[in-house]
Amino acid sequence: MDKVYVVYWSQSGNTQAMAEAIGAGVSASGKEAAVISVGEASLDELKAAKGFALGCPAMGAEVLEETEMDPFVADVEGFASGKTIALFGSYGWGDGQWMRDWVERMEAAGATVLNGEGLICHETPDTDGLADCEALGKQLAAL
Ligand SMILES: Cc1cc2nc3c(=O)[nH]c(=O)nc-3n(C[C@H](O)[C@H](O)[C@H](O)COP(=O)(O)O)c2cc1C
Repeated sequence: MDKVYVVYWSQSGNTQAMAEAIGAGVSASGKEAAVISVGEASLDELKAAKGFALGCPAMGAEVLEETEMDPFVADVEGFASGKTIALFGSYGWGDGQWMRDWVERMEAAGATVLNGEGLICHETPDTDGLADCEALGKQLAAL
């Protein structure tokens, strides 16, 4: 069975919690979820997938984490055309600009962003936020 990949970067665990809830939604749909931190992720596995999820919190000044996640996303841009990508992440004091920029970036690379927007949660995801993540996982599993 094809795995559904959920690749994330997280410093303090909030985006990781979102990733795990997305993975739980995938599993609840009867598919195998692979929830993987970006340092362990393989571009080849994503290249072979129809769709996958990428998660990263707002860092710097409304940007992706620059050491691991941004270079990974730059690689994904190279084969994103035709893929469906779910984007998600946690934020603190901003208004979600980093996610709007990320959506635009992936669409410019030719990807379809699932639901046309990223799923964002303020700091630690609450019950509703986790439910939204699970629902996203179910959508991803249904691609
Ligand atoms: C170095 C640093 C930069 C950050 N920059 C932003 C930012 O630009 N906008 C924002 O809304 N939150 C910002 N935050 C807050 C984080 O996005 C927020 O705490 C998030 O929940 C962290 O997710 P994580 O637990 O997955 O690492 C920043 C946090 C840190 C540590």
